[in-house]
Amino acid sequence: MTLILGIETSCDETAAAVVEDGRAVLCNVIASQHELHERYGGVVPEIASRAHIERISPVIDQALQQANATFDDIDAIAVGNRPGLIGSLLVGVSAAKAIAWSTGKPLIAVDHVRAHLYAGALCQSPIPNPQPPVPAYPSLGLVVSGGHTSLYELQSPIEMRLLGRTIDDAVGEAYDKAAVILDIGYPGGPLLDKRAQKGNPKAHQLPRSMLGKESLDFSFSGLKTALLYAVRGKPKGRGAERYFERSADDLTDEEKTDFCASFQAAAIETLIKKLDRAIDAMSPKPKTLLIGGGVSANSLLRTRVVELGEERNVDVFVPAMPYCLDNAAMIAGLAFKHLEKNEFAELDLAAIATTSV
Ligand code: KG4
Ligand code: ZN
Repeated sequence: MTLILGIETSCDETAAAVVEDGRAVLCNVIASQHELHERYGGVVPEIASRAHIERISPVIDQALQQANATFDDIDAIAVGNRPGLIGSLLVGVSAAKAIAWSTGKPLIAVDHVRAHLYAGALCQSPIPNPQPPVPAYPSLGLVVSGGHTSLYELQSPIEMRLLGRTIDDAVGEAYDKAAVILDIGYPGGPLLDKRAQKGNPKAHQLPRSMLGKESLDFSFSGLKTALLYAVRGKPKGRGAERYFERSADDLTDEEKTDFCASFQAAAIETLIKKLDRAIDAMSPKPKTLLIGGGVSANSLLRTRVVELGEERNVDVFVPAMPYCLDNAAMIAGLAFKHLEKNEFAELDLAAIATTSV
């Protein structure tokens, strides 16, 4: 039995988890900073790093306590060292190095984007009997978060190749901006999703950008701008004089809800169409579809991707809700795959803003 302590601080969640043999999650502690960033309408990097510094030690202590473990019981320390906000990443990386150095345990570096795609394999401990299946490979992966919207061909949880990605906004970012346009609160993605479920998705015809006929890239900025103009009207004037005649305040609650549903329909339909296209583009065909990242918590995406899997005869792995948003269980889980391959990091491990895939 191998126990790995995972640490994750890439954006605005301070997280620590203990995972057994890359699968069974003993604990998954997440300290969210939403209340600190709410009034700014988005994550403020400097505030995020300072909050990580205050929270990292208590969060790790709590994780060990919940796992009923001490550092002696832990076999390796894993940390998400890329991609993310550099000041935030540095806090987790420094903490992981300090623990690895002082306990003499090996250090493992994990890419946050790869970890999101691994999250569908995680189960809460104790694992039910019979065990839920693990993904078969080759696999088609879709990472949908606040920073990424990318398709990958995976030969294993670690070996993957980029097939396509967004050329402008990430889908989570588009959700967050749409929520600002509609003035429905923070954090935007989950609130927009909740409202969308009560609205009419056909109320407004918003664009689904497919790019070229065979393109596996994404674009969400047109959808965001179309929503902006539909809500506020076309801008008048130029440069600093530019203004909108209407605002979200002019909408009734019901109208806002219909905009949410129409935006959600356009965003998710685009993702599903690209997934469908990518299944055809892969040779050999994928045996499984892996979805990960914050937007994998989306109600419509979860339903539609299962339907797509049934239509295309591909098994679908969507993470359980606690492993969709940023968490450390996915870091500790994927770290086990690196450990099996003897892929360890040195104490000079760097925090890096970009992904390795
Ligand atoms: O993976 P994540 O926690 O952080 C990044 O790595 O970016 O993803 C956060 C993103 C945010 O943009 C958030 O609005 C979006 O995921 N999100 C959602 C939902 N839950 C979170 N977007 C749509 N529907 C949701 N239910
Ligand atoms: Zn993430």
